[in-house]
Amino acid sequence: MKQHIFVATDGSDTAMRAVDLAAEIAAKFDVPLTVGHVLHFGRPAEELARMADVEHMVERVGKTPGVNLPNLPDTMLNLFAETRAGDESIRLITLVGDDILQRGADRAKDLGAKTVKTSSSQGDTADAILDMAQEAGADMIVIGHRGLGRLKRAVLGSVAQKVLNHAECTVVSVR
Ligand SMILES: Nc1ncnc2c1ncn2[C@@H]1O[C@H](COP(=O)(O)OP(=O)(O)OP(=O)(O)O)[C@@H](O)[C@H]1O
Ligand SMILES: [Mg+2]
Repeated sequence: MKQHIFVATDGSDTAMRAVDLAAEIAAKFDVPLTVGHVLHFGRPAEELARMADVEHMVERVGKTPGVNLPNLPDTMLNLFAETRAGDESIRLITLVGDDILQRGADRAKDLGAKTVKTSSSQGDTADAILDMAQEAGADMIVIGHRGLGRLKRAVLGSVAQKVLNHAECTVVSVR
């Protein structure tokens, strides 16, 4: 059986289904699980706006100590559409990433996974996923077949495609 499972999440509903499957396998076979996220630096604001559970996320991020949002926007799109100083937008994207990881890890633990770690990175999304999975010692990667992108003409998202093409270990793509 597998030694370590890595699941990649961008916070989308499909990625959360990947988390569910990864957690169920980890729980059943008592295998450690790493939940990984690649921070959305340079991604389109519309993509961030489509994050699952956006209102709650904005609320949670806004309540983080040290975050100074005088007019807390009601959607993710407003949050990122406003012009912000570079440092602040880096901090927001990092907080959103932390929130995505926290939700993934909480969900995995709820489903019975005993050893759950989180990992975040940046850069090319697929390359970063492959690197994080390798660093974690994963011999299985679980991803969603789609994510936050909206180009529905492709059957597989570009990140999923690249991970499937380049991974040296088993990859499970969840629908
Ligand atoms: N930033 C990310 N961090 C971690 N995992 C990610 C990230 N982006 C995508 N993934 C993983 O890859 C899966 C497929 O997403 P992908 O980005 O390939 O599809 P898409 O967003 O629908 O299309 P595209 O990004 O090509 O427009 C997601 O369900 C998730 O498991
Ligand atoms: Mg995507």
